Amino acid sequence: MGETLLMKQVGIDDIATYVPKIYLDAEDMAKARGVPPEKITKGLGIEKLSIPDAHEDAATMAAMATLMLMEKNNLQPEDIDFIHVATETGPDASKPISCYVQGMLEQRYGKGSFDHIGAPETKFACVGATYAMIDRLAYIASGWNRAPYSIVVATDIAKYELNSSGEPTQGAAAIALLLKENPRLLVYEPQFTGFGTVDDRDFFRPVERTTAVVNGQYSVGCYLRDMRIATDAYKRNMVKAGMLKSLNESLMDKIDLASFHSPFPKMVQYAFASFLIHDWRNLPKWNQISQKIGPEPSREKMTDVEFYISDNYKDYRKNFTNTEEFIKEYEAKVADSLKAISLIGNSYTASVWLGVASHFEHRKDDLTGKRIGIGSYGSGSSAIVCSFIVQPEYKEVVKNIKLTYKLNKRQKISVDVYEDLHEGRRKLNESINPPKNEFVLDSIGTSETDFGYRYYKYIE
Ligand code: HMG
Repeated sequence: MGETLLMKQVGIDDIATYVPKIYLDAEDMAKARGVPPEKITKGLGIEKLSIPDAHEDAATMAAMATLMLMEKNNLQPEDIDFIHVATETGPDASKPISCYVQGMLEQRYGKGSFDHIGAPETKFACVGATYAMIDRLAYIASGWNRAPYSIVVATDIAKYELNSSGEPTQGAAAIALLLKENPRLLVYEPQFTGFGTVDDRDFFRPVERTTAVVNGQYSVGCYLRDMRIATDAYKRNMVKAGMLKSLNESLMDKIDLASFHSPFPKMVQYAFASFLIHDWRNLPKWNQISQKIGPEPSREKMTDVEFYISDNYKDYRKNFTNTEEFIKEYEAKVADSLKAISLIGNSYTASVWLGVASHFEHRKDDLTGKRIGIGSYGSGSSAIVCSFIVQPEYKEVVKNIKLTYKLNKRQKISVDVYEDLHEGRRKLNESINPPKNEFVLDSIGTSETDFGYRYYKYIE
């Protein structure tokens, strides 16, 4: 069975992104909250927060990304096998967003035109889309698919309480991934994929709440712990496959660029620094680095999470991030993935994949044949570390991602308007930016048989 999986080259053929057309400036939020702006812009790395308009929810964003993906590839419903959505901010505890997306698409392609598709929804906090993608790629690799393409859509609205420590890390976006055999963009390397999962409570959202409950600093430690478990698994798989001679070799030497889940860009710096400390610890070059930053602090009597959030470790990691060795590796392999993210904020399931799109839009060198590593994390908690090889046709495909263009075209809103939207004080038809050529949430059922049901329509 392993051999069958390895025989077919499967992966991501194209990407379409959707971001709401309004944003809140991080400096405006800082001023309103009495926080030094640099704490958000430099401390967290966030410049702008993407804010959903009154007519938007995770389903409209998913439908917009999917429609764009289909239109730019001239796809018809019969070309599609699955529309598989990953989200943690779906509006319904029973009906999946994927089915709402199907309904919206049928307003464009004809009633019943998608009745042949499979349409599940996957949930695992921010790592859900990576799980969904692996499922769908395995299905295509197995040969069970009936149509050539499957679409995985990651869509989320990251929302915390007003005035909370998580508030500056809010955001919203969707990204649709087109999956197929012999893709033009990225070929998946299933044999290396590593998982790290721990039953934990760093972040969760009970069904009765619209905002998440989060233990912020603790969640940072969980992210780092799970990422290390998954990375170790990935590395062992590379050794098993003969890609590395032993666990003492550097894994990072095999990775050309990387995208991590980014709740805020600084988190990715923490993650990459922890990853490099772990990867380089046994290499000859570490002696030189150790001389600059001193010995690693002791872990004695500490759990992994306690260690990762201890002041001693944070100071040690900060010293490492100031070394030229770290800066060089970070600038060469990670920094470009965060250019878009710093203008969006957290978008939960979509974040790690927006990082991939950001790389493609900002890297000017030839990426053909390069290995791109993915570090996907979801609270609760689980990390997936996996990789892809960039395909020669990528240059033509990425010309149409246009994420930077969309981000630059957005309209800035004031803190008052943001707070009204956050607290649901604007009606569905009181959008800041009147919808045009897009799906909107039109109404929500109030009768006994449709209470809470969501009705969507396309506005020309
Ligand atoms: P905080 O505790 O207010 O911030 O919020 P802090 O005190 O940790 O400071 C952050 C950085 O700002 C530090 O930088 C400060 O020094 C710096 P560092 O020392 O670490 O390099 N700073 C300043 N810099 C410049 N000028 C200043 C200044 N002041 C301070 N004046 C926290 C941080 C993460 C707790 C908060 O944002 C939060 O609760 N966020 C939500 C939870 C979260 O994002 N967790 C991340 C890991 S879990 C995850 O990624 C999963 C998630 O996406 C959900 C899912 O999976 O579904 C959240």
